[in-house]
Amino acid sequence: MQRTTYCGLVTTAHLEQEITLYGWVDRRRDHGGVIFLDLRDREGIVQVVFDPDAGDFFEQADRVRSEYVLKVTGKVRARSEATVNPNMATGEIEVYGTQLEILNSAATPPFQMDEHITVGEDVRLKHRYMDLRRVEMQNSLRFRSKITNSIRNYLDEHGFLDIETPIMTRATPEGARDYLIPSRTHPGQFFAMPQSPQLFKQLLMVAGFDRYYQIAKCFRDEDLRADRQPEFTQIDIEASFIDEEEIMSITETMISNIFAEHMDVKFDKFPRMTYAEAMDRYGSDKPDLRIPLELVEIKDLLKDIEFKVFAGPANDPTCRVTALKVPGGSQISRKQIDEYTKFVGIYGAKGLAWIKVNAIENGIEGLQSPIIKFLGDEVTMNIMQRLDAKNGDIVFFGADKSSVVSEALGALRCKVGQDLNLYTCDWAPMWVVDFPMFETTDSGALTPLHHPFTAPSCDAQALKNNPAEALSKAYDMVLNGVELGGGSIRIHDQDMQAVVFDVLGISEDEQQEKFGFLLDALQYGAPPHGGLAFGLDRLIMLMVGAESIRDVIAFPKTQSAACLMTDAPGTVEASQLRDLNIRLRNKEKQES
Ligand code: AMO
Ligand code: AMP
Repeated sequence: MQRTTYCGLVTTAHLEQEITLYGWVDRRRDHGGVIFLDLRDREGIVQVVFDPDAGDFFEQADRVRSEYVLKVTGKVRARSEATVNPNMATGEIEVYGTQLEILNSAATPPFQMDEHITVGEDVRLKHRYMDLRRVEMQNSLRFRSKITNSIRNYLDEHGFLDIETPIMTRATPEGARDYLIPSRTHPGQFFAMPQSPQLFKQLLMVAGFDRYYQIAKCFRDEDLRADRQPEFTQIDIEASFIDEEEIMSITETMISNIFAEHMDVKFDKFPRMTYAEAMDRYGSDKPDLRIPLELVEIKDLLKDIEFKVFAGPANDPTCRVTALKVPGGSQISRKQIDEYTKFVGIYGAKGLAWIKVNAIENGIEGLQSPIIKFLGDEVTMNIMQRLDAKNGDIVFFGADKSSVVSEALGALRCKVGQDLNLYTCDWAPMWVVDFPMFETTDSGALTPLHHPFTAPSCDAQALKNNPAEALSKAYDMVLNGVELGGGSIRIHDQDMQAVVFDVLGISEDEQQEKFGFLLDALQYGAPPHGGLAFGLDRLIMLMVGAESIRDVIAFPKTQSAACLMTDAPGTVEASQLRDLNIRLRNKEKQES
């Protein structure tokens, strides 16, 4: 007999019917001669009861253990009122078992399904196929499948063609380190795995496909965090003959639609903010707008004070002196302030000055702080006035290089917002626009803020004259402080592309050697085009409320970019290395 339905889908509609189920034993209980089996499959759990009337099958039911795989046939019956379980989708019914077949036994599981919190992620990742049996994981991956399906439908309806691009390719400059693949047939040469399909999607526009998308695997050898994996998935999009407005509108509607359809959340039109404003007010190019705290510049108030810690940066054009007012923050303990001081230290801040506002009506006497004596009464009160400080507030200060202050106080803003639960809403999508074309590295060189194919907002001459000031036609979509996606209008003009490479100090030889094929293609009638890529893993992480993208990827890598289940990366046979013309520096390793 074939499966009638999934375990989790048995309902009162099946009452009195004989049904057949397949599943895993979630739990087995022996209640004085009656065996209760919780049978689980991807849709959920149903209770099966065997009593001695089932004869041999009862004996077998007695023998099964956790995670055995069973085929069960039985009759659906209503549970007595006392045994109805309102917390269970199938809690009104149970299956009175009449036949049972053990399809497979199972060794004692490495951890019980409800122990996943305590066993640690390493154990879960080592036995990922077991971890994936958990309801949360099943639900997350199923949800992910639904979302990709909706995205495909949306893009398909809007004329985007799903076209695959190579995994074995040349380096794509997205700013991370490449994963390389040695070539056997070309000794000493390497493929790079794509950091994104960027160049190929542009070439598809040159080829006239007009609208492309791909749910594409990307590979980046970079430092990993909760929202970064070495191998991750983009919803990659490109279109011809469009401007920023159009591509932003198409993709904004796509995201709004999936939130409406799958989360029952309705977004208004996304607010837009320039990069400069985002950095000023939130110290971040991906501000979390759920948190109603802002950085306030107070540089001008501190230029003439004695306190070097503040006066120095106040008089240095490369520095910021910024205050972050936290309503209700005067409750924060000294110990917690010390923690926050350590926290901003991660971002290079050398300290974290603060003032607590206890009774502002008493003027300076109503404030509490280790730095008032350095600031002086007048300056302190001027700061309080600018911030419109109220009783119960705490004000934190950052004074340092602009980048350090922005990062440190920007991160503190989010941390305090989370610790004090200051969120004003559940979802805060937005666009960040008007990014600079380039950023200056510590060594003074310019690097692209996005990638070198991003079109500037100005003409080639203006770009040459003042590259550090030039803005680009790039845009990022940000959701709850996470960069969900980013893209730009591209350069479709060969001369403009050459100017950008010049500004970046990429020699003509290097241009030819790395991107010659793109420069060539730009000569042959490249249409104006642009696009964007979303991080699919991040999108799903946010939608299901996961802490890490690892929780929405079936087989993720660890923080050190390894797979604990397959033990990848691993060593290879010496003969394989020989074929590839590779000799390891450490001879022992090679032979092991
Ligand atoms: P970008 O590098 O901004 O742009 O990447 C686009 C989006 O991909 C996600 N993302 C990641 N997700 C998980 N792990 C990672 N290591 C990781 N790196 C990036 C982010 C990010 O917003 N070719 C351009 C897009 C374009 O211009 O069209 C690109 O790759 O959510
Ligand atoms: P100090 O004089 O170094 O003990 O600093 C006095 C106060 O200012 C302490 O609360 C420090 O945490 C704080 N502080 C020191 N350097 C900075 C800085 N660069 N930005 C903000 N606060 C600072």
